Amino acid sequence: MTRKIIIDTDPGQDDAVAILLALASPEDLDILGIVAVAGNVTLAQNARNALKIVELSGRSDIKVYAGCERPMRRTLVTAEHVHGETGLDGPVLPLPKQQLESQHGVDFIIETLLAHEPGTITLCTLGPLTNIAMALVKAPAIAGRIKEIVMMGGAYFEVGNITPAAEFNIYVDPDAADVVLRAGIPVVMAPLDVTHMMRSTRERLDKIRAIGNRSGQAVYEMLSFSERFDLYKYGMDGAPLHDPCVIAYLLKPELFQGRHINVVIETASELTIGMTVADYWHVTDRPHNVHFLRSGDADAFYALLTERLARLP
Ligand code: RIB
Ligand code: CA
Repeated sequence: MTRKIIIDTDPGQDDAVAILLALASPEDLDILGIVAVAGNVTLAQNARNALKIVELSGRSDIKVYAGCERPMRRTLVTAEHVHGETGLDGPVLPLPKQQLESQHGVDFIIETLLAHEPGTITLCTLGPLTNIAMALVKAPAIAGRIKEIVMMGGAYFEVGNITPAAEFNIYVDPDAADVVLRAGIPVVMAPLDVTHMMRSTRERLDKIRAIGNRSGQAVYEMLSFSERFDLYKYGMDGAPLHDPCVIAYLLKPELFQGRHINVVIETASELTIGMTVADYWHVTDRPHNVHFLRSGDADAFYALLTERLARLP
């Protein structure tokens, strides 16, 4: 049974790998559309990057939309220091043949959720949650129609990566994250706690390059570019691979371990804004609104990723 999904993304090399993993899995995932959001770099650049990724995959059936250009309240913070000026530095990718859709990404999300049976569409968010929150504000009725939101974002035991307290996707738009987590929608969160286990060691990257197709080579070059910042910062044996955890969870949830807990977003304190305050030990009676993934099987994750990338051109 294929799962209908919408991917909301700010590509970003790790977003690109997640999108390719999804595009390589048509028997599992029916991608209704890809929506770009401002985050790693500007909206226009993220949208252009999404078109290039679709072109690389050969999946010309997939439509790409541009969503919101800035967070709901705060000023946009981008991450060129990690992803490069284009947001997808590393490989030279084929120029996209297709254009962006003219419909705004938020309206595409609303229209698609209203057009399908309730509870049949999963939102896969790989960047700040601005588009999802704005869709919920514009059309609150969609909340009850979303099957699940599987998101990369947040951190608790692994602490923040853009500030000592906050992970980037939540930090960029904490108000959007707050709206989403309070909407009563089933949420699966892939925080830094699990993504920091999925490290792209040189051995794993070499196996991806050894696939021998253009997608594997592009992924190798993307991650060999974006790893520099994290290798220097963390001194790990490989850089964490964040966004593909969302798609891998949909493909093989058994690779991950998590717990239903309460997560609330700090939206006021300048010191800790964007922190995902996770009640991991159930010390409060706050509702368990998130399935918080704390760990995963990295070898199985990379085996899945490598096997699926081999299915692409
Ligand atoms: O903190 C990691 C997240 O921020 C990932 O989604 C990465 O692409 C960046 O958007
Ligand atoms: Ca991302």
